[in-house]
Amino acid sequence: MSAIIVYFSTTGNTETVATRLAATTNFPIKRLLPAEPYPTAFDEKMKRWHQERDHDLRPAITTTVDLSAYDTIYLGYPIWSNNLPAIPRTFLEAHDWTGKNIIPFCTNGGSGFGQSLDRIRQLAAAATILPGFEIYNTQIDHSASLETWLESQKQSS
Ligand SMILES: Cc1cc2nc3c(=O)[nH]c(=O)nc-3n(C[C@H](O)[C@H](O)[C@H](O)COP(=O)(O)O)c2cc1C
Repeated sequence: MSAIIVYFSTTGNTETVATRLAATTNFPIKRLLPAEPYPTAFDEKMKRWHQERDHDLRPAITTTVDLSAYDTIYLGYPIWSNNLPAIPRTFLEAHDWTGKNIIPFCTNGGSGFGQSLDRIRQLAAAATILPGFEIYNTQIDHSASLETWLESQKQSS
């Protein structure tokens, strides 16, 4: 399997999981960076996100990712309003998913995957969505299930 880790993160939780996944598996890792950074303040960030969600916007990404060498893409993101944030939506729509696998992983404040898996299936209809991993953000630093998942990804590489 040739795999790459692609993730979006604004406060570092998903980045922590993505970085640990990369350290465990040695897969390359790319962070999706918005052309216009999100405000740091929660309320402002939420306001921008609600506009993006309500108008189904696809904000620009400065990161270029060439997926041609990979058959499996780990897609990491935080849950926003029970769903997939706009930046990973932009990423999914920008690529041809024919013949590719997506392994989703997310961090959240209790919503689990929410509606995000349905959204991924919709935006990358040609991809095969494989079982992923979700974690409550307060558990990241002391989660046996995260350790188990990381190790299991190593074995399948
Ligand atoms: C705009 C916004 C909306 C959020 N909505 C939810 C939500 O609906 N459910 C949930 O469990 N967590 C929600 N969260 C919490 C994030 O999913 C959680 O803090 C996540 O770990 C952040 O990841 P990051 O540090 O990689 O950005 C929200 C956070 C933000 C900023």
